[in-house]
Amino acid sequence: MIKDVERILISERQIQEAVTRIAKQIEEDYEGKEVMFVGLLKGSIAFMADLIKAYTKTCTIDFMAVSSYGAGTESSGRVNIVKDLSVPINGKDIVIVEDIIDSGNTLSFIKAYFAAKNANSVKICTLLNKPDRRVVDIDVDYIGYDIPDEFVIGYGLDYNEHYRNLPYVGVLDRSVYS
Ligand code: IMP
Ligand code: MG
Repeated sequence: MIKDVERILISERQIQEAVTRIAKQIEEDYEGKEVMFVGLLKGSIAFMADLIKAYTKTCTIDFMAVSSYGAGTESSGRVNIVKDLSVPINGKDIVIVEDIIDSGNTLSFIKAYFAAKNANSVKICTLLNKPDRRVVDIDVDYIGYDIPDEFVIGYGLDYNEHYRNLPYVGVLDRSVYS
């Protein structure tokens, strides 16, 4: 598995720095409100787990699963709901927790979906952001790190469902997919 990592892009320590910074920022921004964190499966699991442990205020959590990728390294642009929310979200202050924002297709779909379900507010939190790849313009409220246009794996992120268990974010060696 390690041999497929061209280099480590974001170390475990850098990840934890971002987690702490973002959790603190959300606590400040939602003073007096109760946040509902919604993690997008499966990529957000590691980030979601660390983020809620760093968050010290009352909150609730839920998960959704959507797919836009299929197998491969390019987004298909079509978003399907694979697993829906398990509780109503009307009146809730939602923070969507995502692993990475690439084209923006997934998040623009999810944000509209939540707005239609009458959430009180919807903000977006992502560990990684690839600004050079954006196709749809969306506001991202909390970003761990902006990264260059390279396919990354680890800390929840996969290539064909593998590598999610790496504790850091690494660049996938091109020999694996070309
Ligand atoms: P978007 O809809 O194009 O913004 O894609 C977002 C989703 O694509 C993320 O939730 C990831 O699951 C996946 N994705 C985008 N870039 C990468 C990458 O570099 N590595 C692994 N998954 C990625
Ligand atoms: Mg994925």
